[in-house]
Amino acid sequence: MNCDGSITVLIGGKELMDSAESILRGFFGSSYRYARAVVDHGVGSVALATINGSNIGAAVYYGVSVGSIKLCIIYYIAVVKGCRGLGIGKVLMSTIEETCADSDVYIATTWFGNEPANRLYKSLGYIGYTWGELRRLIGRRAVDRLLRATCGYDDDVAYVKPVVSDSDVLSTLKRVTEGSDDVNRLWRETCLGVWLRFRNAVH
Ligand SMILES: CC(C)(COP(=O)(O)OP(=O)(O)OC[C@H]1O[C@@H](n2cnc3c(N)ncnc32)[C@H](O)[C@@H]1OP(=O)(O)O)[C@@H](O)C(=O)NCCC(=O)NCCS
Repeated sequence: MNCDGSITVLIGGKELMDSAESILRGFFGSSYRYARAVVDHGVGSVALATINGSNIGAAVYYGVSVGSIKLCIIYYIAVVKGCRGLGIGKVLMSTIEETCADSDVYIATTWFGNEPANRLYKSLGYIGYTWGELRRLIGRRAVDRLLRATCGYDDDVAYVKPVVSDSDVLSTLKRVTEGSDDVNRLWRETCLGVWLRFRNAVH
């Protein structure tokens, strides 16, 4: 894969998913179906990074209102193996942030030991909290809603960043409990439903 040249990031929906699929499936394997589900559901968007017409990175993200705030969830992101460490992940993330600028908080989740992902989020000013830390800081109910909104059950760390740079991200996140929980339908169809189908297919 030739990673030299200027990076173009295309933003779209289902029409970009086939191109994004091989990149995301290459790293995430069957978990990729969660990414597909949010795009098929009409909520998720796709960011596709290309160099000279070759697809070299992809991400799936979505905006969702939870309580009285709007979250921008960077759900799945991957850069093809030979092109990592060259700044492509950062370009993808920054482009997503721009398109999500009407949100209150950006959020991405990952697991302990995924150093490239941890570094990527930190390099862009995200602060990482384990779900346990967040429960202590913003309460169990708020974290339950964040888990549903991000489908982040298998992940250990939530990386968060306020859209307005000097705002207090934890105070903002507490507001996910204000009002009714309208992420339930999204969670049932793109998270729980996918997990149940996966589990039934395995057993
Ligand atoms: C995570 C991933 C998308 C990062 O994309 P990338 O294009 O390689 O990242 P970038 O080159 O933009 O680097 C972003 C920052 O992370 C750092 N970084 C990236 N990979 C790193 C590595 N392997 N070791 C140490 N630091 C690393 C870079 O130095 C940079 O920080 P800086 O700006 O302070 O120098 C890519 O590694 C990947 O596809 N990994 C597999 C999929 C994955 O884990 N996705 C996330 C799941 S939650």
